[in-house]
Amino acid sequence: MSDQYKKLAAERAADDVTSGMRLGIGTGSTAEFFVHALARRVQDGLDVIGVPTSERTRELASSLGIRLTTLDELPELDLTVDGADELDPHLSLIKGGGGALLREKIVASASANMIVIADGSKEVATLGRFPLPIEVVPFGLEATRRAILKVFGDLGLPLNMALRGGSAQPFVTDGGHFILDAQLESIPEVQTLGDRLVAIPGVVEHGLFIELATKAYVAGTDGVKTVL
Ligand code: 5RP
Repeated sequence: MSDQYKKLAAERAADDVTSGMRLGIGTGSTAEFFVHALARRVQDGLDVIGVPTSERTRELASSLGIRLTTLDELPELDLTVDGADELDPHLSLIKGGGGALLREKIVASASANMIVIADGSKEVATLGRFPLPIEVVPFGLEATRRAILKVFGDLGLPLNMALRGGSAQPFVTDGGHFILDAQLESIPEVQTLGDRLVAIPGVVEHGLFIELATKAYVAGTDGVKTVL
């Protein structure tokens, strides 16, 4: 059922794309529905160029005939369309469930607008139910882990964090980093937490996307809702 809603939201976002746009293209199952919808419009003559946020998205979009480039070639984008693991009423997000949060945040930050596409299960009043992904440098992992836990302690958050993939075979991002997933339950002060995390030297990025999304299409039993 959620796949059907993801597809609906993705198709609505594809309708917002117009010829000439420079697009950031997200990562994940919802973003893949968007890539398919965009490819159909490209086959019908829509002229766009895209910057993918992961190798996975690059392969799919390229195989479907979408013209692609890099952010170095095209450092300013008109619109990024991407999924999310959670979104709140202020359009703050948790992203990174698919492990692409760093490139996703760089691409979204280079875009004038960002549309989030999601099924209704992703909507929350307060972020935090979904584990917060934190991308870290492998060097000094234990020291970085402790510094992150210190921040959680200072902010009264649970000290519950796991290395994605496990220590025997950690998940490695497109950038060659690891991901720590923090089960925080509820994050009342997203900006404070984000600021404290990026100040830790071994932290590359975190999955809190604040003031990046400009619109969301959220699909459920009542159809597609627009959140502004
Ligand atoms: C990848 C992401 C995805 O957008 C997020 O995990 C949502 O994925 P899906 O659309 O498969 O539910 O942030 O890093």
